[in-house]
Amino acid sequence: MSGELWEVAKSLFPGGVNSPVRAKVQPYPFYVRGGQGPYIFTEEGKALVDFVLGYGPLFLGHNPPYVRRAVERQLERGWLFGTPSRAEVELARKIRRHVPSMEKMRFVNSGTEATMVALRLARGYTGRTKVLKFDGNYHGAHDYVLIDAGSAASEYGVPTSAGVPEEVTRTVSVCPYNDLSCVQKILSKEDHAAVIVEPVMGNMGVIPPSKGFLSGLREICSSTGTLLIFDEVITGFRLSISGAQGLFGVNPDITTLGKIVGGGFPIGVVGGRKEIMDQLTPSGPVFNAGTFNAHPLSMAAGVAVIEQLENGNHHVVAERAAKAFVDSLDDSLKLTHVVNRVGSMFQVFLGVSEVRNASQARKADREAYLRLHSSLLREGVFIPPSQFEALFTSAAHDQDVVDFVVRALRNAVRSVG
Ligand SMILES: Cc1ncc(COP(=O)(O)O)c(C=O)c1O
Repeated sequence: MSGELWEVAKSLFPGGVNSPVRAKVQPYPFYVRGGQGPYIFTEEGKALVDFVLGYGPLFLGHNPPYVRRAVERQLERGWLFGTPSRAEVELARKIRRHVPSMEKMRFVNSGTEATMVALRLARGYTGRTKVLKFDGNYHGAHDYVLIDAGSAASEYGVPTSAGVPEEVTRTVSVCPYNDLSCVQKILSKEDHAAVIVEPVMGNMGVIPPSKGFLSGLREICSSTGTLLIFDEVITGFRLSISGAQGLFGVNPDITTLGKIVGGGFPIGVVGGRKEIMDQLTPSGPVFNAGTFNAHPLSMAAGVAVIEQLENGNHHVVAERAAKAFVDSLDDSLKLTHVVNRVGSMFQVFLGVSEVRNASQARKADREAYLRLHSSLLREGVFIPPSQFEALFTSAAHDQDVVDFVVRALRNAVRSVG
């Protein structure tokens, strides 16, 4: 049972968990035995409608047969060779077809690694040191991005992590999200290797880019010789088959992907213009290597997911479910609130009337949000246990699920006040 596992886990793992947001579920995290479609099943045998979806990767829902079969076929052949396999070529060709700005790419194992390589690459290519990021954007758990970071770093009050050397923090400039004049001012004063941005912010709740923000970044970067990095670890293949760059029509120099493109298996991808990517070892001097890079299971799962996305109305179904959830929330909540939604990613902020950057998100009533989380859990619905995460829908969130969730929401909002 979850309670017994939790008692042992506390003696084994710092804070009882292996990734901090998981500890936010009260009184302790429920342990999960499995998942199917839009549901997860707890150790206690309870079914929950899942709006967390592994924090984003499971765009087709849990355990989709087509992806499982592709992984099983790879498992039968073996799963690690230390030399190239066919699936990595297939996956890269599919990615490049749908995200043409990724002319060449490198497969790594997590979004964290992808942004780490992207920043090193930008520094190696431009010969410049400083990079610019945005307050509340989260790009993973390495030193150069754990500065004014969102997600669990903000949830636990350590947006700039202890242990990040002062010397590193001095190489990173930070602007408020959606503030082009800040970017213009900093980049015109001092050379920067790159601007890294979540094209839709998904790690401080959801915050959309203001009209002209992404194209404005593109212009400023081009005119100052700064590389523009879109961190599409969440938005890649979610907001459209071509990600946020397809949706907004703005091309970055470098893109990072993760989550959906590995079908729920560990993956990160860094890709971009040929002449930049060719700076990577072995063709150039910027080092990257990895025992598990282009892991055959992740490659096989990724190919299967993209094949599914190429043939179906999966984005339409996921987006319809997200819109129904949001509309129902708007109808049922009496409290002042904002719901930000882009496609199939969204979040509600209670007690505030506008959220366009991280400091506005920090003003939301996080206690009320956690009450909403707990009462939805009692009603059989799992949303992230943190204001600073996004809710996600999948192609498995069909009309029956939506109807159930709308009823659950009506009951749950009573506890919010
Ligand atoms: C936008 C973004 N970039 C990077 C990462 C880091 O990815 P990973 O957790 O796979 O290291 C995340 C994780 O949530 C993310 O949301």
